[in-house]
Amino acid sequence: MTLLIRPETAADRNAVYAVEAAAFGRPAEAELVQKLQQASVDTISLVALLDEELVGHILFSPMTVKNDVDEFTAVALGPIAVSPNHQNKGIGTELCRRGLAACQEAGYSLAFVLGHSDYYPRFGFMRSTPHGLRCQFDVPEEAFMVLELAPGALQNKRGTVYYHPLFSGV
Ligand SMILES: CC(C)(COP(=O)(O)OP(=O)(O)OC[C@H]1O[C@@H](n2cnc3c(N)ncnc32)[C@H](O)[C@@H]1OP(=O)(O)O)[C@@H](O)C(=O)NCCC(=O)NCCS
Repeated sequence: MTLLIRPETAADRNAVYAVEAAAFGRPAEAELVQKLQQASVDTISLVALLDEELVGHILFSPMTVKNDVDEFTAVALGPIAVSPNHQNKGIGTELCRRGLAACQEAGYSLAFVLGHSDYYPRFGFMRSTPHGLRCQFDVPEEAFMVLELAPGALQNKRGTVYYHPLFSGV
């Protein structure tokens, strides 16, 4: 079996919708991806193809960190989805690794994720609030995590982290 990770193209849209909906067992995340793309948000979107079948997808979108004196841009990981019948084969891991590298290349210095606290630490994510960075949403502390994409990027960074407004509907 050959796994290929590559940027999403317009021709992948329906398959991406199907994978997101199947993995989450509901359409909300698939619709969020669609809405972000329709709104021309500057996302980084990768797909995973297993023997040419689209079986995984990861999306990154810009977010804003604000405090009393300034604000800066970071990147949000998610949603990420792997088809239920292809999970636990390392596909999600490859999507995360390649996606985070693409974010680094795009110049982002901090990435955030809201998700499983026992999955993302393997990529270097750690709890965000001890670093003075808290999520705009009321979420369990261990679920909101941050990763430095550039050395020292967490230094002197404080504030509230805001997703694109379309995330508020999910
Ligand atoms: C989470 C997800 C993207 C991982 O993709 P994957 O290809 O199955 O993951 P990998 O094969 O790379 O890694 C497998 C590891 O992930 C862990 N894992 C899978 N789903 C998990 C979950 N829901 N919570 C915590 N850990 C999970 C497995 O236990 C396994 O751990 P191990 O390596 O210690 O044995 C995939 O399971 C999925 O699409 N889930 C449904 C949608 C979802 O929950 N997305 C993430 C929202 S934060």
